[in-house]
Amino acid sequence: MSYSCWWKSAVIYQIYLRSFQDTNGDGIGDIPGIIQRLDYLEWLGIDVVWITPFYPSPMADFGYDISDYQGVDPTFGKLADLDYLIQLLHDRNIKVIVDFVAAHTSDQHSWFIESRSSRSHPKRDWYIWKDPTPEGNPPNNWIGRFDGLSAWEWDAKTEQYYLHSFLKEQPDINWRNPGAKQAMLDVLDFWLQRGVDGFRVDAAYRAYKDPQFRDNPVNPNWHPGMEPSDLLFEVFSKNVPDIHDFNSMLRKFVDQQGDYLLIAELYKSLEEIVKHYGANDEFHLPLNSELMSSDLTWSAETIREIVERYEHLLPEDAWPNWSLGNHDKHRVASRIGGEQAKVGMMLLLTLRGTPTIYYGDELGMEDAWVPSEHIQDPWEKKAPGIGVGRDPERTPMLWDSSANAGFCASSVHPWLPITYDYDGINVEVQKKKSRSFLWLTQSLLTLRKQYPVLQLGQYVSLYAPSQLFCYRRFNEDSDLVIALNFSSEYQEWILPEEFRNQSTILISTFMDRQGGQLGNILQLRGNEGIVLGSVSRSSPSQ
Ligand code: NOJ
Repeated sequence: MSYSCWWKSAVIYQIYLRSFQDTNGDGIGDIPGIIQRLDYLEWLGIDVVWITPFYPSPMADFGYDISDYQGVDPTFGKLADLDYLIQLLHDRNIKVIVDFVAAHTSDQHSWFIESRSSRSHPKRDWYIWKDPTPEGNPPNNWIGRFDGLSAWEWDAKTEQYYLHSFLKEQPDINWRNPGAKQAMLDVLDFWLQRGVDGFRVDAAYRAYKDPQFRDNPVNPNWHPGMEPSDLLFEVFSKNVPDIHDFNSMLRKFVDQQGDYLLIAELYKSLEEIVKHYGANDEFHLPLNSELMSSDLTWSAETIREIVERYEHLLPEDAWPNWSLGNHDKHRVASRIGGEQAKVGMMLLLTLRGTPTIYYGDELGMEDAWVPSEHIQDPWEKKAPGIGVGRDPERTPMLWDSSANAGFCASSVHPWLPITYDYDGINVEVQKKKSRSFLWLTQSLLTLRKQYPVLQLGQYVSLYAPSQLFCYRRFNEDSDLVIALNFSSEYQEWILPEEFRNQSTILISTFMDRQGGQLGNILQLRGNEGIVLGSVSRSSPSQ
C-alpha cells in the first residue's frame, strides 16, 4: 500500500453541523444544508470538510454522546443523505473527515443498555464498572470534565459504579476489552466503506486509563473561578503511558484499509502532543491547539516562539498542523479582534502545516451573546459564569442580511441566537466587497494553490522588529516571505538582503495593494500582513 499523504497540502474546513444550514425548518443545521452550500465550499477553495457528529444521539452533549455509530440522527437527515453528500464532495475533489467519538458512547447506546443490565452480561466489561470502596465511596477521586464532581455514577440495580469522564450520559468505553475494541474498529470500517477519508478522533487521549485506577493528584493552586475539573491533575485518567499502544493500534488498522487521515484531539502542550506522532506510526496529525488557547498572548514574540518551538520539537517525518478555532474555543475574532483576525488568517494559511478553518472564521465571525435563558451547552449549565460555555462560538453561520442570516427561514427559531450585528459580517455582503475578510480568505486559499511552496515548502523565520513576525517559505522553485504586523502601529522592516529590490507584493490583508517592486524596506500599516514574492524566483504554478 502506498500512501500519498494528500492531507499534507490540504486545508481543512470544520463544519459544525448544527449551525451551518438548516433546510427542514427545525432551526438546526442538517446534511441537506451542507449539500445546499457546496458551491460556496468549492468557491472558497478548501480541500477537506470535517463534519461534526451527525450520528443518532440524545444530544446531551450535542452529538458527542452517540447512541448508534452507524446511522444519522433524524435531526440531520438520513444515511442516504450522507452517502450523497460524500459523493457530491468527492465529485468536487473535496475530501470528508468525520468525528470518531472514541472514548465514550451515550448511555442510550444499546451496548451500554446491555452492559448495565446485569453484572454477568457479556458486554458488562465493554464499559468501566467498579465496586465502591469498603467505606461505600466511589472507587477513586476522578472527576468529570464539565462539573468537577465525581466521574463515577452509581447504578442501583447492579450495585456498581460506572465511569464517565464527561457527563453521566456519556459512559467511558473500556478499550482494553477485546469485544469493545473490535466493535469500535468495526465502526471505523463501516465509515471507511461508505467513503470517508479520515477521522478526527475525539478525546483520543482518554481511550486508556491507568490500569490501577489510582487517585489523581490534587492541584494545590486551584481556586474558585477556575475550571472545576482543574481541581485535580489528570495524571491517571488520561494520556497514560500506554496510550501510544492505542494510537498505533488505530493507525495500523486505518493504514491497512487505505490512504486515510487520522487526527487526534489532545489539548496538551507542544512537548506532549509531538509524542503522539510516534515514529510516524501513531496519529498523522495530533491536534496542535496552541493558537486557540484563551490564555495565549497574541503578540509577534509569542507566536514566533510557539512556531519555532513546535518546528524544533517535531519528530522527523512529522507534519505540523494549525488551527485558530473550533467548536470548543471562543472565536478567534473575539479573542484577538477583527483586524488581527485577518493577520491570524494569513498566519494560519501560510505557516508550514495543515491548517483547519472553523466555519465562519473566514468572515471574521465573532462570538454571539447568548442570553441565559437560551443557553444550550451542558458545560455552561454545569459551571455557569466562568466562561467555559461554548454556545457563543457555535451560533449559526451568517449567510446573508435576512432575518436569521439565511441559516433558517425567518419564521423559524434557530437553536442558538444569530450573532447580533451581522449586517457586515455575512457571506452575501462580503462577497460584494473586494477587500472583505471573505475575499482575503478566498484569495489566500487561491494563493496556496498557485504557490505550492505555501503548502509543502520549507519554513524559516527571519530577523524582524519585535512587533513583526516574518518568515520565509521556500523550495527549489519559489521563495516567499510573509511579514505580519501584530501591532496596530505602522512598522518598517528592512528586508533581508536577498529580497531587496527583488520583491513584489502578492497579497496584503488589507486587500488593496499588489505588485510593484519593493526596494530595501517594507512598510506595514498597523494590523497588516503581507506575502511577498521574489520577482525573479517566485513563479506561480501553471
Ligand atoms: C471533545 C469535543 O470536541 C467536545 O465538544 C465534547 O464536549 C467532548 N469531546 C466530550 O465528548
